[in-house]
Amino acid sequence: MNTQPIISSLAPMAGYTDYPMRKIAAQFGASYVVSEMISAVAMCMNDRKTAVLAKIGESEAPVVLQIFGHDPAMMAEAARKLLTGDYAGCSYAAPPAGIDINMGCPVKKIVTSGDGSALMRTPDIARDVTAAVADVCAKHGVPLSVKIRAGWDSDHINCAEFAAAMAEAGASKITVHCRTREQMYMPSADPAYAESVAQALKSIGKSVILVGNGDIESRADAERYLAIGCREVAVGRAALGNPWIFRELSDPEHFTPPTLDEIRALSISLVEAVVREHGETVGVRESRSRAAYFIKGMRGAAGVRDRLNHAETLSEFVKILETIGEE
Ligand SMILES: Cc1cc2nc3c(=O)[nH]c(=O)nc-3n(C[C@H](O)[C@H](O)[C@H](O)COP(=O)(O)O)c2cc1C
Repeated sequence: MNTQPIISSLAPMAGYTDYPMRKIAAQFGASYVVSEMISAVAMCMNDRKTAVLAKIGESEAPVVLQIFGHDPAMMAEAARKLLTGDYAGCSYAAPPAGIDINMGCPVKKIVTSGDGSALMRTPDIARDVTAAVADVCAKHGVPLSVKIRAGWDSDHINCAEFAAAMAEAGASKITVHCRTREQMYMPSADPAYAESVAQALKSIGKSVILVGNGDIESRADAERYLAIGCREVAVGRAALGNPWIFRELSDPEHFTPPTLDEIRALSISLVEAVVREHGETVGVRESRSRAAYFIKGMRGAAGVRDRLNHAETLSEFVKILETIGEE
């Protein structure tokens, strides 16, 4: 068995990859973690609620802050603010380790503004955005990464040439989510898209790190991406209920699948941390979908989810999690 550590990150997930989840990913061996996506426009308007998304807490792995938008000047200014901490409500236990640009979000509200995966349909704008943010990152000595999809839909697969253009514009890392915008999150991801990006990056002769993303649920899944030219992997949904995957990737010799007691204990400690972070009302509400990832696939999961959806207090919530897997 190959026991070399695999460099892995917690992929950015709005509503999930806040400080409590990122701290857990770090504890299990994620090489770095990425924030939820942060609006460049809101940062430029000094919106305090948005600033909270950029919080970097104690005991995290290096934190990359992800921004979205399509205006090069605003994106550059948002990156500057984030990298210098020049905004109200800034709270960093450590400086940001880099900036990531979201060019993959498929959500209608985002793409109709020209942001997220819509940038893959406007490569000239995407290039200007990348160049503007790359300048700021270079000034502050941090790397810039860009997260893309395979393309808009099956008739418009452009990840290879698009990634090469972003690399030429100054990105030193490209993460490819191996689905199209049209596919959203459902059909299986196809690592062949990452392979085409690997070839394109090789042909321009730039030293760019390629990160594979999509359906990584085990070491074997990650190895498939490494075999076709990725240097790292980003783990999304699988990490939300199984952060042990980072140990499987980084330190397979010391990895054993979690016991039911460990799953119960970790899900409870996540919910407690979310409540500490966001207060009981919001924290319990937000924890419903997060806890669902821990019970996915267990017998009686639907019943437990239903009970969690009706729990209003932390103690009710914890009581339910203490018994998961019993049904
Ligand atoms: C609930 C949810 C929120 C997400 N939010 C973001 C985001 O803020 N920024 C981003 O680049 N990708 C976001 N993604 C996409 C993930 O980073 C990742 O690319 C996708 O889930 C595929 O990886 P997976 O198959 O391992 O889950 C989100 C995905 C989900 C499921």
